[in-house]
Amino acid sequence: MPSANMNVMIKAARKAGRSLVKDFREVENLQVSVKGAGDFVSRADREAEKIIKEELRGARPNYGWIGEETGEEPGEDPTRRWIVDPLDGTTNFLHGLPHWAVSIALEHKSEIVAAVIFDAAKDELYTAEKGGGAWMNGQRLRVSGRRQMIESIFATGVPFGGRNTLPATLKDLARLMPLTAGVRRFGAASLDLAYVAAGRYDGYWERGIHSWDVAAGILLVKEAGGFVEAIRGEGPVVDAGNIVCANPQLFPELATQIRSWD
Ligand code: IPD
Repeated sequence: MPSANMNVMIKAARKAGRSLVKDFREVENLQVSVKGAGDFVSRADREAEKIIKEELRGARPNYGWIGEETGEEPGEDPTRRWIVDPLDGTTNFLHGLPHWAVSIALEHKSEIVAAVIFDAAKDELYTAEKGGGAWMNGQRLRVSGRRQMIESIFATGVPFGGRNTLPATLKDLARLMPLTAGVRRFGAASLDLAYVAAGRYDGYWERGIHSWDVAAGILLVKEAGGFVEAIRGEGPVVDAGNIVCANPQLFPELATQIRSWD
């Protein structure tokens, strides 16, 4: 049985997803001029965050909040906060690529305890609660069972514009691509993590990531049996700004490769 919090999160994600799908159709139909598309998408993004915030803060007014668009707002209960990316994969959305998602996590005492990622364009709803497994549309998820790097596919990402992390990621790619079946860069970190949980990817890493991109996905991967750590840094992974995860068999080698020259 989903908890009351999970029901609130699912409702918020579906409602925001419906609003985004409507806007996405407009982008796809090119009713939005190339010049105006950027503004249109930021409006769609802000509207989705507003919907989610109304639902979540309406139901739990005392929880804290951090959202990509509206930033951080402490709540009366300092131990709980919502971590929200209303539209992860903004650049894909802007280009009419149906690979973006709503990501909502609930953190309690610095640990993610509930997670929803909604890939509204494909109608795939990923959910996880601590100790309750990871699920997609009611189906239990498990990370892949692959053991060899050479037969495995990994995903990575580069923050918008590359920021300071591009040189490091290019080194990662030079090192890892010859050792694996491939590395993908699909442009939505929440879905990269959801796909690791679903066994579609065998692992994922990224340098220069925000808490709202990865919070929900961290719990999904853990609940599907995967390992998740910061590439470097101490404290909770969600705040580390970098992340590496994989199935338990491949995690040691992936993490060692990524950290070996870090
Ligand atoms: C971005 C995507 C992308 C990742 C970037 C994120 P946004 O989120 O998740 O895959 O590589 O680091 O910032 O900006 O589309 O919400």
